Amino acid sequence: MTSPLFSLLQIKSIILKNRIVISPMCQYSAEDGFANDWHLVHLGSRAVGGAGLIIQEATAVSPEGRISPEDLGIWNDEQIEKYKQITAFILSQNAFPGIQLAHAGRKASTSSPWQGNRKLTIDEGGWRTVAPSAERYHEDEAQPPLELDKAGINKVIADFKAAARRAHEAGYKVLEIHAAHGYLIHQFLSPLCNKRSDDYGGSFENRIRLLLEVIDAVKTEWPADLPLFVRISGTDWAEGGWNEDDSVELAKILKTKGIDVIDCSSGGAVSYQQIPVAPNYQVPIAERVKREAHICTGAVGLITEAKQAEDIVNEGKADLVFFAREALREPYIGLTFAHNLHDGHTIWPKQYERAKLED
Ligand SMILES: Cc1cc2nc3c(=O)[nH]c(=O)nc-3n(C[C@H](O)[C@H](O)[C@H](O)COP(=O)(O)O)c2cc1C
Repeated sequence: MTSPLFSLLQIKSIILKNRIVISPMCQYSAEDGFANDWHLVHLGSRAVGGAGLIIQEATAVSPEGRISPEDLGIWNDEQIEKYKQITAFILSQNAFPGIQLAHAGRKASTSSPWQGNRKLTIDEGGWRTVAPSAERYHEDEAQPPLELDKAGINKVIADFKAAARRAHEAGYKVLEIHAAHGYLIHQFLSPLCNKRSDDYGGSFENRIRLLLEVIDAVKTEWPADLPLFVRISGTDWAEGGWNEDDSVELAKILKTKGIDVIDCSSGGAVSYQQIPVAPNYQVPIAERVKREAHICTGAVGLITEAKQAEDIVNEGKADLVFFAREALREPYIGLTFAHNLHDGHTIWPKQYERAKLED
C-alpha cells in the first residue's frame, strides 16, 4: 500500500519519491560562507532518513545578505566545491538536494541564536544593512538600514543571478528563492517595510517588482527543466500588511513566470506581528493559494506527525509537506513515517536494512 505522503511527485524533470521536504534551516556554522562537514552530515543524515527533498538553509547571495556572520554563502566560486560533495551525497541516497537563496536585508548582521540573536555593530564583525526603506526592524537598533538605490537593487538582482549559476554548478536540483520571513524580498513586498515612492514601492505591482526581476535573472542561469520554488510569507499577521489575498494574486503571477511551487510560510516582516501559532496554522494559506492560483504548494509549520502530514496531502491542501524542527528531533523522518503509515514501498538504506521496522 502507498500512503499519499509517499506518492511520487514529478516537478519538471525530477520525480520526488515522496512529499516529505526538509525545510531550510540555518545552522549558523559556516566560516566566510563556506560549508563544512557539519552541513554535510546535517543534510546528509536527513537524506539517509528518507525525505524526498532536502532544502539547504538560507544561503546568502552576498556577504551583506547574511543573517549572521556564520551563514552559508554562495557569492564566490570557491564556495562551490564543498556544496558539490553535499549534493552528490544527497543524490546518492535517492533524494534531491535543494538550496534556498537569500538576502536578509535589514535583518542581516545579527548574532546566532546561541550568541544572543542581537544586532552586531561593525566593531563586533557586523556590517551596515540595506533595505527598501531606511526603517529599523526593532526600535532599539543603533542604526537604520541604508535605503537601496537603483544601483543597489541591480546588484541584488545580479547577486541572485550569479548565485543561481553557482547553485546549478554545485549540483542542486531545486532552487528556492527566499521571499519570506521579513528578509529583503519580503521587505519589498510588505507595505509595512516598503515606503518607497519609486518603481519599487507603493502599488502592489511595484512592491512585487524586485521579486519578479530576481526570478527573471535567476531563470537566465537556472535550467528550464529544474524546479523553481518561492517561499513566501502568506500574511504579515499585522494590520495593513501583506495578506493572503496578496499572496494569491502573487502566486497567479508567479505561475505565469514558471514558478513550480509556492512554499507557504508566514510572518517576519514586523516585530509587532500577532501569530496564532498552533498545529497546521499555516496550512490554510497553502490550501488557499493552491486552490485559487492553481499552483503546487508546500505546507509548513508545526506539522509533526505522519497522519497529520498524510491528511494534508490526501485532502489536497498542499502537494508537499515541509518539516523543520521535527526533522531536527527525528532525522530519519521519512523512514519512521513510512512505518507509521504502513507504506510498503519505502526502501531503507541497505546498511540499515536489518533495523527496518516491520509492520
Ligand atoms: C533552526 C531553524 C532554522 C531555520 N532557518 C530557516 C531558513 O534558513 N530559511 C527559512 O525559510 N526558514 C527557516 N526556518 C523556518 C523553518 O524552515 C520552518 O518554516 C519553521 O520552523 C516552521 O516549521 P516547523 O514547525 O516544522 O519547525 C528555520 C527554523 C529553525 C527551527
